[in-house]
Amino acid sequence: MKKIAITGLSGVVGQIMAKTVPHDYTLIDLFHRSPYPDNQFEGKIVHKIIDIVSKDDTNRVLSSINPDVIIHMAAITHIDVCENDKIYGKEGIVWKTNVEGTRNIVSYCAKNSVPVVYLSTECVFDGKKSSYNEFDKKNPRNWYGRTKHEAEEILLSSGVQVSIIRGVVAYHDNDNQKTIFGKFVSLLKKKNEIFAVDDQQFTPTYTYDMSKAIWNTVQKNIYGVFHVSPETSLTPYEFVTLLATQYNLEASLVKKTTLVSFFGKTRALLRLPYACLSQSYSNTKLGIKPKKPIDAFAVMTI
Ligand SMILES: NC(=O)c1ccc[n+]([C@@H]2O[C@H](COP(=O)([O-])OP(=O)(O)OC[C@H]3O[C@@H](n4cnc5c(N)ncnc54)[C@H](OP(=O)(O)O)[C@@H]3O)[C@@H](O)[C@H]2O)c1
Repeated sequence: MKKIAITGLSGVVGQIMAKTVPHDYTLIDLFHRSPYPDNQFEGKIVHKIIDIVSKDDTNRVLSSINPDVIIHMAAITHIDVCENDKIYGKEGIVWKTNVEGTRNIVSYCAKNSVPVVYLSTECVFDGKKSSYNEFDKKNPRNWYGRTKHEAEEILLSSGVQVSIIRGVVAYHDNDNQKTIFGKFVSLLKKKNEIFAVDDQQFTPTYTYDMSKAIWNTVQKNIYGVFHVSPETSLTPYEFVTLLATQYNLEASLVKKTTLVSFFGKTRALLRLPYACLSQSYSNTKLGIKPKKPIDAFAVMTI
């Protein structure tokens, strides 16, 4: 059985990754604060505590496992939390986790010829043009994106066999209200008025498409930079209105707002006006066709 070590399994994307592990893998949960619950996983799972910020810790833990492949998802991901840490620069926990943490993993992988799958984001781009392909020039507009960009560069220049998988705002059902799907459903069920941004386009990623892309790269040894998101964009307002209509919730509760009204002037500037990835190259390479929200909603439950 191949050993697959995953960082960040307790996070949003990890919820689905753990549910979709192929049968021929032993999963090693490289957890930070809390291990992934065994009762939510049917296969074989081993837990190892790790702090990727520590090079010694990372090297010691990975050496004790000797994984066949590493899926590196651990990061500090909230745009505003990351931005607040920018004043500390390379001494800040966000840089240390997202950049140095990745460097520590890559350092082990380079010495031991272990391939890496790395999860990244549309935030490596500035969001000024309507869509970005896999080869477009990066130019992050927020600190989160800057650290993810640096981590990508470390991986790409390391000589390690690497797949970089970029997604946009992952969502799925049964999410404990951790994704925009569950958050909006909860507000609509409480019959609360909802304000949703209508001057931003995005291509939100159905998390099961992301996990499928990741497992395909692992199983078929596909390397490169890939995008996982639907081919058409919409606004967050359109997303939640579609959701309300699909599940017979009250669409009239949803009101339009703008990035500036919703986030305030400073935080709005950190958001990408076009948080959109194009993906025809990736779809062909990975053999996937990521779902549009309307198609994802058709197979999701509330
Ligand atoms: N969710 C999205 O919409 C989305 C979209 C595109 C790309 N991505 C990328 O996908 C990855 C996963 O995102 P997510 O939303 O699932 O993240 P998340 O929910 O914020 O979870 C982050 C994970 O990182 C772990 N972690 C943080 N610091 C660590 C450290 N020092 N050592 C080891 N583990 C540490 C956390 O564990 P603890 O909680 O125990 O600290 C947690 O499991 C990220 O790399 C993100 O950039 C996410």
